Amino acid sequence: MTTLLHDAIAELDQRYVLPVYRRQPVLFVRGAGARLYDEQGDAYLDFLAGIAVCNVGHCHPQLVERLCEQAHTLMHTSNFFLTEPQARLAQRLCEISGMEKAFFSNSGAEACEMGIKIARKFANAVKKTPEYEILTLEGSFHGRTMGALSATMQPKYQDPFKPLLPGFRALPRNDIDALRNAFSDSTAAILLEPIQGEGGIYSISDEYLKEARRLCDRYNALLIVDEVQAGFGRTGRWFAYQHAGVLPDIVATAKGLGGGFPIGACLMRGVATEVLQAGEHGTTYGGNPLACTAALAVIEIIEQEHLLENAARVGAYLQARLHQLQASGAPIREVRGRGLMVGVELTQPIARTVFQKALERRLILNAIGETILRIVPPLIITESDVDEAIAILEAVLREC
Ligand SMILES: Cc1ncc(COP(=O)(O)O)c(C=O)c1O
Repeated sequence: MTTLLHDAIAELDQRYVLPVYRRQPVLFVRGAGARLYDEQGDAYLDFLAGIAVCNVGHCHPQLVERLCEQAHTLMHTSNFFLTEPQARLAQRLCEISGMEKAFFSNSGAEACEMGIKIARKFANAVKKTPEYEILTLEGSFHGRTMGALSATMQPKYQDPFKPLLPGFRALPRNDIDALRNAFSDSTAAILLEPIQGEGGIYSISDEYLKEARRLCDRYNALLIVDEVQAGFGRTGRWFAYQHAGVLPDIVATAKGLGGGFPIGACLMRGVATEVLQAGEHGTTYGGNPLACTAALAVIEIIEQEHLLENAARVGAYLQARLHQLQASGAPIREVRGRGLMVGVELTQPIARTVFQKALERRLILNAIGETILRIVPPLIITESDVDEAIAILEAVLREC
């Protein structure tokens, strides 16, 4: 049963919002912790977290308080002037990532664009190899702006918008021989996600990342790691590359960074910090005081509440419970991922049906294609939240 409010909003949405999203018939009006509430007050257990965004849970009181304080004080000035939250956030991000400088954007795609622009100018002005290549991986996702899209090696995203930006080449993921064969003096950079998110939750092996680092050093190329989805604590470390013990030259981050407030950042170190000069890149909103205050609060909460440890521990528990489900005969081919970035590959093309039926039972999951479920809950979830979600998933899989 829908309500009058729901129906009125659905009608407005249908009439006035560009239909590029497949909407579910659910109207959320409030969020708290790991739960979203519809207009009737019904609670949904959120194992999607706004697509790996609301890492500290919905409307965390500390985040809300800091945002309100900052909104009363100063929201925006332009990047012509100094502001305290931006400088302090840049410092904190460099400390937790091992990078040396930050550039702030409004989204993940823009953070990746920045990495691509640095690689292109690095090839032109530093390496002086105008015939350069930027290597990427098959099945990748880096965003929908034209540069990031040209690096997104999935035909369904790229084909309608051809011709794309030239200079990108896709490699098969985790194929170390192909990686070695692809590098040459004209390689400007390699851009990769340590765990491919939109591609279906596929981990890039530590060996592959280490070899990419070694080859970048050998051929004077930049290692650009896209941590937009896997970063900010999701895998149990601040950034997923930290599991492999490699240090990239450039890191793109967004999503969890603002805990729901739109902000992205491109972090960099070494030669990558020297490529762009004043006036060569910029954005009106990037790094505004409100967005940076949100990100500073998110970092503080992750530290105070030990959410990296929680993501690792509860993530391991979640994967163990999913393996139990598989062992008990549920149609699960594989459980994969790290921490609270988990993919469940099903043996039948029922992922969308599972998603729908779970939603009817007030559990929010996500389907990638026909066979993969993506589970990326807030990092605050507990073992008992996992038990609740597994009970619903078990019932749904039995029905399908
Ligand atoms: C790995 C990765 N990179 C980039 C993006 C693009 O981020 P945004 O949607 O904020 O532009 C995404 C979004 O899903 C992503 O998962």
